[in-house]
Amino acid sequence: MKEQPIGFLDSGLGGLSVVREVKKILPRENIEYFADKQRQPYGEKSQSELIKFTLQIINFFLKKKIKICVIACNTATAASLKQAKEHFSIPIIGVIKPAVQDAIKKTSSKRIGVIATEFTTKNGAYPKEIKSIAPEIKVFSNFCPEFVSIVEAGKFTAPKTYEVAREYLKPLKDEQIDTLILGCTHYSFLKKIISDIMGPGVILIDPSVSTSLTLKEILIQKGISKEEGKSKENYYTTGLPEKVKKIAKIILSNDNFEIQKVKLEGLEQNI
Ligand code: DGL
Repeated sequence: MKEQPIGFLDSGLGGLSVVREVKKILPRENIEYFADKQRQPYGEKSQSELIKFTLQIINFFLKKKIKICVIACNTATAASLKQAKEHFSIPIIGVIKPAVQDAIKKTSSKRIGVIATEFTTKNGAYPKEIKSIAPEIKVFSNFCPEFVSIVEAGKFTAPKTYEVAREYLKPLKDEQIDTLILGCTHYSFLKKIISDIMGPGVILIDPSVSTSLTLKEILIQKGISKEEGKSKENYYTTGLPEKVKKIAKIILSNDNFEIQKVKLEGLEQNI
């Protein structure tokens, strides 16, 4: 079982922020990564669509014999983690709970900001999770629709990205938060800009860091962590592999991997 891979899913490149962290602390694990690029952005989809996409991708992963699945997407976690756990018998983790636990530990003013996709923001997944642990905390949210396409285009520090980010972050700055959750895995790649704008008084919480630590704990606890040998990685997308690879190789600082095109049943009707 130790040799079996870990499956990571996202609508695109965002989940690579989780993979990047996992590779640092679990360098020997075998990885299967799924970027559902053709159906992006997930943030504009409905809950029933998102549940369908998640279950479909996990079914694909089961053929690859994954030992655990990481829903490396906040939107898919908010929409479908519960249903996915009910549906499959393998362990499945999302990115929201680990980020929330981290943020609650770090805030001293008890004023936490969350930036996320439209779906995650409107669904209220973050405030619900925070309030279930610490009801006294005030949560301020905003959604940042353009961030996903900015990251997919690799414009991590472009002047226009600063401009857009300033606008999205202003309401949160005005609320004088001391902790900001990057509630979409894509936003991890905009950390530099977000931190420049929010200033040194605001701690950024990156779910990719907290999730990779949670993943490591679970693998060790279950005795299924792979500690020997080289890691193998397989990448899949429903979109155009060359397009995904162009930015993925910058993110992963590696050129030595292939991305396979995958056709999922019924995909044409979903877009
Ligand atoms: N990266 C995903 C997340 O964490 C969503 C991006 C999208 O809208 O497709 O929410």
